[in-house]
Formats: sequence, structure tokens, C-alpha cells
Amino acid sequence: MDSRVIQLTAAAHKYGNLNIRSCGKSFFPPDAFGGSSKKKGLGVPITIKAQGLPQPIQTDIPTNAKGKPRWLFRERAWVKDFINSNELMKDNIITIERLNYRTYKLISDNNHTEKPQTHCVVEEKKSSVQNNSESLKGELIGIKQASEWATEYLGKTVTTSNISYLIQYGLIRKIGGNGTTQISKQELLNYYKSYNGKRQVSWNGQLGDDLNWALSFEQYKEAETTKHVHRLHPYKGKFIPQLVEYFLDSHTDNFKKHTYFKKGDIILDPFSGSGTTMVQACELGMHAIGIDVSAFNALIGNCKVATYDLADIKTEVARIMNSLENFLVNSHTIEFEEKLLEILYEFNNKYFPVPDYKYKVKRGEIDEETYGTKREEEFLPIFNKLVKQYNIKLLQDKADSFLDKWYLQHIRNEIQFVFDEIKKIKNIDTKKIVSIILSRTIRSCRATTHADLATLKEPIAATYYCAKHGKVCKPLFSILKRWKTYTKDTIQRIAYFDQLKTNTFQLCIAGDSRNINIFEQLEKKNAAFAKLAKKQKIKGIFSSPPYVGLIDYHEQHAYAYDLFGFERKDGLEIGPLSKGQGRQAKESYVQAIADVLNNCKKFMVDDYNVLLVANDKYGMYPIIAEKAGMKIVNQYKRPVLNRTEKDKGAYSETIFHFKQI
Ligand SMILES: C[S@@+](CC[C@H](N)C(=O)[O-])C[C@H]1O[C@@H](n2cnc3c(N)ncnc32)[C@H](O)[C@@H]1O
Repeated sequence: MDSRVIQLTAAAHKYGNLNIRSCGKSFFPPDAFGGSSKKKGLGVPITIKAQGLPQPIQTDIPTNAKGKPRWLFRERAWVKDFINSNELMKDNIITIERLNYRTYKLISDNNHTEKPQTHCVVEEKKSSVQNNSESLKGELIGIKQASEWATEYLGKTVTTSNISYLIQYGLIRKIGGNGTTQISKQELLNYYKSYNGKRQVSWNGQLGDDLNWALSFEQYKEAETTKHVHRLHPYKGKFIPQLVEYFLDSHTDNFKKHTYFKKGDIILDPFSGSGTTMVQACELGMHAIGIDVSAFNALIGNCKVATYDLADIKTEVARIMNSLENFLVNSHTIEFEEKLLEILYEFNNKYFPVPDYKYKVKRGEIDEETYGTKREEEFLPIFNKLVKQYNIKLLQDKADSFLDKWYLQHIRNEIQFVFDEIKKIKNIDTKKIVSIILSRTIRSCRATTHADLATLKEPIAATYYCAKHGKVCKPLFSILKRWKTYTKDTIQRIAYFDQLKTNTFQLCIAGDSRNINIFEQLEKKNAAFAKLAKKQKIKGIFSSPPYVGLIDYHEQHAYAYDLFGFERKDGLEIGPLSKGQGRQAKESYVQAIADVLNNCKKFMVDDYNVLLVANDKYGMYPIIAEKAGMKIVNQYKRPVLNRTEKDKGAYSETIFHFKQI
């Protein structure tokens, strides 16, 4: 049965807003999404049979002014009755099951709660593993017994490995040692009732029981998955460092039974992207070679692993900051922006009071689209007057290149000014990292609305109603603030990573992995590394290849290509978005990835390990292995919890382990 879990927020109790974002769009029929108000048209209703309520509910799901789901049911009066009749509280978890195309069942698990069994209460038991004095109430059971009990309780197979995973990752406690591992049944029950536990059960149901939760890395916060240099520059499509670490490092567990690499080995990433593999190899005392067809991606990766003269970076960014501030003295942009912000602040306070405005929109008392457009129009003359008064030039005269089209004139002038200042930097490594700071800065200053940051639509040059923030927002008119933020952040990140680095080689080469002569190119860049590589050869690959028809990797950094003048090699990208996912695209993708592996084999030891991460929804990797003269010896299927995509539904990817035939 297809099901999702929903966590109750305070808004559910107050306004009847059940936050159904976790369900994802595909969980509902496409026609169930109606207009932003009843006037704009209702979607075709779905039926919800809510536990404890006498009648089924008929409702559609409203969208916002931009046509995006508002992730709640339009009919809401029944939610409070459901909450009351099931005695639910904030943060409780409920399950929504899809019974058929248009009918759903809402179940509260509150009444599953088991009373702790009294015949086997263990009090103040001291565990050799868990040496604490907490009292552990409840029945203690062994791993096998736990898997049998959980299988019965959930109505789904729970293996002993699943239970071991929960223990290993501290999700439930291990009691006892020396071969007599036990767990508390009550704790296991609590886990299955928690948000994470329910998500695990629900995702296993959708994606298969072979999902390996040890590889979900759910225990890591965002700050850890974007730690130190990993967040030096935005990049769409990178994997999380913990995944790389798991496969490179020397640990073994119930799932990873062998180690694949050791300190001093050379790891290859033929699709290096933003350089995640190189960074983690460096932390773990391994050498790494990256290859990427995009010169800008290679620059990002190399900047992450470079060793810097931090004092020199600080001096240069301070110099550029001073020059930029002087440059701005005559341009009035700063005063203009300050004045605009001041007037906007008053306007927004008056017409979009927090939290009243959003509250009324949610209850349907204000029609957001009509109201927002009206206020946007009302503010425009005020904005235009200020533009005239401060002599601000908005759009540029031409829109031929990305930099012409997507930047307001004053921003464009500042970008050019800083770029010219960067050219004066003598230390080449400082110059590169400061260029990366500028690139990160300008990426965040494109003339777009907040809602369209991820997928640009049309440049904007005026104030606009922003549905994301529920008020009138403005584009940026100066890069100064962002430049200050990112210089500080970059220096901190580099300094942090500096403490973790090992004395090893990492280098990303710009090239096409299908035919690059790795050692020859390495020789040109770093003779000592090339010498070591030729002697020792590459031990294996850890990489996430592009997938067919998903991303245009050059295009995502179009602004940087324009500014720095790197040559674009879009035509050499494997599986670009622009070529789609048709039969021909898939065939050439399979051949291209196999060509990469065949080329890389020439530089690897015979007993290599190749680990490739992909969501192989078209089942192409077995054919790729065959074409590359390799065999798949193992597959690790992992749930991907931290996706940036809007649809947060169940999603997995597989780590394929290839070896020589
Ligand atoms: C999924 S991304 C890799 C992301 C990387 N794992 C990270 O964490 O940043 C795939 C990369 O393959 C690169 N690529 C595409 N075609 C290539 C080719 N023919 N040779 C080398 N690299 C290529 C793309 O430019 C892109 O950066």
C-alpha cells in the first residue's frame, strides 16, 4: 500500500492546516490541485476517510498564485475533529494511505501505543556497552526476536540487519554485550512511531526492502553535509561528503563488509564536479585525481583542495573591498537601496503585516494573487520616482550574453570593477579563490525574483510581489553586502579545512574522461604526483556520473563562463539535459559511460574497485558494466533524504560496485 507520513505542526491544531508537503506531488492525482481560491476553480476532489470521523471528507488541494501546491487540504474544518477524536498533539505522526486513485485513509497511530509489559521489567540494569544508570523499562528482546516482532507489528519484513542498523547508528540502544545483544522492545516501538521510523517504513514500502538505511546519513545536520570547503560555491548535483567517506574509509560494518581503499591509495573521480571526492580523499590521507569536462567545475574542485596563504587572501579581499566602497561613493546605489528599503519596510508593514497577512491568505480571507498584484502596482510609481531621483540605470542596453541579460546595470559595473581588481592579484592561488568568491557573489545577484532563483525565467528590474515572502521584494542593486558575507565565509571555511588536510596530492584536470590521457595530463600539471601515479597506478574510482537528460552542467554556471572567459565544452558533456531522455540519448549515454570506464582502466591496477553512484531508473548500468568489460559485484541502494528538489517523495540511488571480469 502506498503511504506517507505527516507530522502535525502547531498550524494543524490552530488552523486545520495539515502539512502534506512530505507526500509529494505524485501522491495525489494531478487534477486534485485546484486554483488559489475557490473563485479560480476547484480541483477534482479526493476522498479522505479519517480515522474517528463518521463521514469521509471531500477536498481538493489549493495552489498559490504561481500554480504551485500549497501543501494543505482546502477543506480544513474536519482536521480539528480528527485531532480531538484521536487525542493528537503537536509533533505526533499520522499516516496517510492511498486506497485507490482518489481515496485516502488517514490513520493516527496514537492508539497503537503498547503498555509496557510488567512480567519482565528490568530496572537499573547496568550494561557493559551502555554504562549508564538510566532505568531501562520494558521487555528486553534479542535481535532475531526483535526482527520477528517488528515484522508482525509493521506487517512488513524487518530483517535482523535492519535491527542491527538501528543499533549501530544509535537510533535504539544496545543493552548487554559479549554476544548477548538485546534491545528494549519499548524503544523499538517508539522508533517506529517517530517521524524517521515511519518514513523508513513508508519508503521501504515504496522503494523496496533492499534500501540500506545505513546510507541515508539521516543523523547528519545540514551544517555537516555542507561542512568546510564543500560550501565554497553552489553546484547542482553534488553528493554528500559522508557518502564518499563511508566508501573510502577503512571501516567495515554489516553492510560494507570489505574496505576498498587505504591511506596512500590514489582515487580517481572521472566526473569530479565540485570536487567532493578529492576533498574527502584529502581528509582521509588518500591521493585523488579528478577529471571534469567543465573548466569551471575543475576550478571549483581545485580551489577546495588548494593550500593557501591566508594572510595574503585577507590582504587582497580587504584591498578590493576598500576600492569597491570608494567606487560606490559616486554611484548613489547604496543610498538609493537604503532609501528604497526604508520605504518598502513601511509599505510592507502597512499592507503585509506579519503574521496576520499570511494567516488571512491561508484561511482564504485574502485572495493572494489579486491583493499582491494590486499592491505591487501601487508601489511601482514610488519605486520609479526613486529610480529617477537617484539616477539609477536598471537593465543594460544589450542582452546578448548572460552577464548582459541577467544583471542590472549597476551590478554589472561593480562586477567588472571587482574583476579588474582581481586581475591585479599576484599570488595565483589567491587569485583563483578570490575569483571563486566573486563568482559565488554574482550568482546570488542575478536579476530574478526569489521564487525563480533555481530556474531563471525572465530578468526583473523593479519591485515585485513575492509569494515566497508574502510581501513586496526588490532585486539587488549592489554586490557589496554579498561580497562582504562571502569573503568572510570563504576565509573561515578554508581555515577550517586547513586543519584537516593531509599531506597528499589532489588535482582536477579539465578534460573529457572518454579519451583523456590521465598520466600525460597529470605530468603537465604536477610532475611529482604524475611520478607517483605512474609507479603506483590508480586503485579505483569513486564517482557520480551525470545521469541521462538531467542537468546541463556548463549552463548552470553560465555567468562564470561569461565573466572569466573559460572555453565552454557543452558538446562534450555526457547525457546533457538538452538532449533529453529518448532512446538515442540513452544509447549514446550507455556507450559514453562505458567509454569512460574503458579509458580509466588503462590507468588502474588490475584489482581495481569502481564505485559509481546513480539513480539508474532506466536500468542501464548492467549494460554499461558489460560494455566496459566489468562485472557488478555488489549494489548498495540508499534512500536520498536531503534532496533539494521540491518533490520530497521517496527517492533512492544505487552505489554500483564494479570489478574486473
Ligand atoms: C553528477 S556530476 C558530479 C558531481 C560530483 N560528484 C560532486 O559531488 O560535485 C557529473 C559531472 O560530470 C561532468 N561530465 C559530464 N560529461 C563529462 C565528460 N565527458 N568528461 C568528464 N566529465 C564530464 C559534468 O560536468 C559534471 O560536473
